[in-house]
Amino acid sequence: MFRLCLFCLLSLFILQCQKEDPPVKKQPTPFDLVIPKGLPAMNIPADNPMTVEGVALGRRLFYDPILSADSTQSCSSCHQQAHGFVDGNLQFSIGIDGQPGTRNAMPLFNLGWQRSFFWDGGAANMESQVVGPITNPVEMHEDLPRVALKLNRHPEYPTLFREAFDLPDTAAVTIPMLMKAIAQFERTLISGNSRYDQWKRGDTQLTAQELHGMDLFQDFEKGDCSHCHVLGSTFSDFEFRNNGLDSIPVDEGRFLITLLPNDKGKFKTPSLRNLAYTAPYMHDGRFATLTEVLAFYNSGFKDSPTLDANLKHAVKGRLSPEDMADIIAFLHTLDDPDFLSSPAFANPF
Ligand code: HEC
Ligand code: HEC
Repeated sequence: MFRLCLFCLLSLFILQCQKEDPPVKKQPTPFDLVIPKGLPAMNIPADNPMTVEGVALGRRLFYDPILSADSTQSCSSCHQQAHGFVDGNLQFSIGIDGQPGTRNAMPLFNLGWQRSFFWDGGAANMESQVVGPITNPVEMHEDLPRVALKLNRHPEYPTLFREAFDLPDTAAVTIPMLMKAIAQFERTLISGNSRYDQWKRGDTQLTAQELHGMDLFQDFEKGDCSHCHVLGSTFSDFEFRNNGLDSIPVDEGRFLITLLPNDKGKFKTPSLRNLAYTAPYMHDGRFATLTEVLAFYNSGFKDSPTLDANLKHAVKGRLSPEDMADIIAFLHTLDDPDFLSSPAFANPF
């Protein structure tokens, strides 16, 4: 009798429990990516939609040294917000083993409009770019299984990943999820509030010198910058071109990826936004100032079989010192101090 009663009570208890609703799992919140007026729409890959949780997680990972082998370096060690996300004024960044790389750190902004990543376009999309610096022996020098292990053992990351990607409680953190989260954060790094942008929106005036600099920038007989650094929004066509730095390149650039002889010495055309913060310039950081850059385009570029046709036809000495100063004045209208101080991109720790 006693056993029967116990059984009844237990069944009642279980039935009661089953009636309760299972806890509602919080869905990730879609991220509202605001594109400033004047910049084109951004293509977000269908398999990595942006969410508030995903962007926050990507930001945290970007600033977390856990991704490097000895936990001394994060992405932000070489990509500092105060410098337009380059590495201070260093020509070559120093990795965790104290070894310098061979290329100048690239600024990180408006990445969502790019078609490939790194100076030579070695990463075909933003997600795959993420593992490059982590595994690079002169950068973070870590291997991916160890990264996954460290993230899975972490007291908070497993939960944050499950929340960001809407996964069951038992799901483990994987490297593709890490790539997606950091890429989501990278897509939010939008710079579009320079004086040039404000002028385009009709909110401010540019000086006569700046406007003259812009004319020279587009004038095919003069600056002829906009053939490659297209005037408008991103200030690049993102094509690979040889702008005449060397007659025999030390770094063969795009050729290292495609192995096509016609790609020797070609590099991705960079944007010209935020130049005030991203010196030194070029893939090897050889120029410390914009005055040096302009002197180079005016008369210092070197011929070679892959020199871009636009520069092959350019007349050396075509710009006066005033012309060069005016182009530099125009370039500085592309500096965006708001981007450097935006709290949304700052270190969350
Ligand atoms: C040791 C310094 C260093 C660290 C750490 C580092 N980077 Fe970089 N980053 C560079 C350098 C140098 C380049 C240019 C590399 C090249 O072109 O070969 C670069 C290029 C990039 C680019 C390409 C931008 C473009 O316009 O094509 C992205 C994106 C990027 N890094 C993101 C990251 C992320 C995310 C991390 C962390 C997972 C990271 N970086 C860690 C130095 C660093
Ligand atoms: C034929 C295409 C082309 C033309 C024309 C051109 N550029 Fe460039 N520019 C490039 C490429 C490609 C690079 C990257 C080269 C490298 O580092 O190897 C570059 C790099 C730069 C950089 C360095 C940016 C950085 O982040 O390091 C500046 C500044 C620059 N160009 C300004 C100008 C100006 C100003 C003009 C006009 C006077 C001009 N460019 C004309 C293709 C061009």
